[in-house]
Amino acid sequence: MLKIIVLVSGGGTNLGAIIEGIESGRVKNTEIIGVISNNPGVYALERAKEHGIPGEVMSPKDYPDRDSFNMALTERITELAPDLIVAAGFMVRIPELLVERFPKGIINIHPSLIPSFCGKGYYGLRVHEAVLERGVKVTGATVHYVDNGIDTGPIIAQKPVYVLPEDTPEILQRRVMEEAEWIILPEAINSIAEEKM
Ligand code: GRF
Repeated sequence: MLKIIVLVSGGGTNLGAIIEGIESGRVKNTEIIGVISNNPGVYALERAKEHGIPGEVMSPKDYPDRDSFNMALTERITELAPDLIVAAGFMVRIPELLVERFPKGIINIHPSLIPSFCGKGYYGLRVHEAVLERGVKVTGATVHYVDNGIDTGPIIAQKPVYVLPEDTPEILQRRVMEEAEWIILPEAINSIAEEKM
């Protein structure tokens, strides 16, 4: 059984896709043993609760400095002992300490075709604003391993999405989620889980 921890910050639609994948049987041999959000009161925590998954909040705001938050998050996840950590709409920098402790044990979903529109400052809606500003005709999403860079780890999966003339950043973000993120993230987890079988 692949035990996973999912890190979230907001709506948790990617968490929802993972839960739906597990409950439908498309994602095999996988159990979400916990959800950690850096923000309280977000819908991602509601989703976890509705599905009987333990959820908790760990926010940098609750610590005197970022180093102590990074240490606390790493210690908590180590204590939970997952096989895989999934950053799904997680808006906090993954601590280097956590990457060192879980080498090739952390994956992230990014809403563009890396190496385009990624790295420092490219997250959430900002990615889709930049895609429209540049005028590219194809964008998409990427699942990659997390290393000590920002969106620089080995790529696991990608899925293209065409940009349409009437797209706004919000419309494009939603389509990239529906047509790419919510498909390739559960698929990537299933592939990792199957390797473990
Ligand atoms: C999505 O754009 C995702 O690609 C990015 O965070 C946004 C919200 O994700 N990483 P979610 O709905 O909280 O899963």
